[in-house]
Amino acid sequence: MGLLEETEYKVRAVDKTFEKLTIASPRLERVQASIQEPGLLDSVTAASEAVISTTALCTPALYNKRPVEVIEANFLDLVPLVDLCTRRGRWLIHFSTSEVYGTYPDRMNEDQSQLVLGPVQKERWTYAAAKQLLERLIWAHGQHRGLAFTIVRPFNVIGPRMDYIEGIDGEGTPRVLACFMRSLLYQEPLQLVDGGRSRRTFVSVGDFVDAVVRIIKRPERCQGEIINIGNPSNEIRISDLADELISAYQAVCPDDVRFEKRTVPGEAFYGPGYDDTRRRIPDIRKAERLLGWKPTTSFDEMLPIIVRDYMERYKQNS
Ligand code: UGA
Repeated sequence: MGLLEETEYKVRAVDKTFEKLTIASPRLERVQASIQEPGLLDSVTAASEAVISTTALCTPALYNKRPVEVIEANFLDLVPLVDLCTRRGRWLIHFSTSEVYGTYPDRMNEDQSQLVLGPVQKERWTYAAAKQLLERLIWAHGQHRGLAFTIVRPFNVIGPRMDYIEGIDGEGTPRVLACFMRSLLYQEPLQLVDGGRSRRTFVSVGDFVDAVVRIIKRPERCQGEIINIGNPSNEIRISDLADELISAYQAVCPDDVRFEKRTVPGEAFYGPGYDDTRRRIPDIRKAERLLGWKPTTSFDEMLPIIVRDYMERYKQNS
């Protein structure tokens, strides 16, 4: 259940396109604009009690190919928003990222874990560094200038309508789910970066939205906090995710061909400067404690729904 169903708030949604936000509600206003548009942040912060900041360039293929834009979008464009929220006394709920933990090898804890990024030459880390600096700016405004804030660190959220299919409704390499779905729809080999040996924990978009709504309902508990939102029970090797998606696809489309998987070196797939996090497991005890929340959706529950969604939206194009 989303924000409109679960709260009485009026929502002003700002985006460059609304193809994916089809819901109708008298409490929803759509503003089609870019965050860089002059006056936009001023009007958004003037009119709202709370601002949920979600804009980002967040596909790893961009981090080493367009690093200047990645730093602009994930840091510079948002500096004025932090400042305006401080001056106007607005609650800033900012979506950061699990990537700030970098290559930290253990369960990632908001208040204790080191943030371990690679060398500057490994441009994969431009995104994490930009996101980390913005977190530090928000924190500093909170500690020294009275900003009410909550920083959310999402850990690999997946679900229907995620990203795009390259060549149909977007360009460039999306995140792994959409890459694999494209291969399934086009009956091409699924590409396993460095053998698909890295692991991720995936949280369903439904569980994630539930957590965000609980944050909005609990300002007194969540202000001044950094909160991981992820599902440590859903850890999987990327090569196994490929197998799970193939099975889910074949269950819906039994006549389709057998699928191949192909290993590709990281720098061949993403370009020079790519690097990877081998494991990424969130410590979600703080989210459980503050929000009374626990993610519940397993791969078996989410993958068939995701596969059907991509098939309905794209099958005729493939
Ligand atoms: C993502 C992005 O940086 C952000 O969207 C986000 O902030 C963060 O993680 C998150 O969601 O928590 P990453 O998990 O590396 O980073 O993104 P994916 O593109 O989904 O890649 C996951 C893994 O799959 C990586 O090891 C990648 O090399 C691999 N992969 C990707 C493949 O094996 N094949 C592909 O076709 C695509």
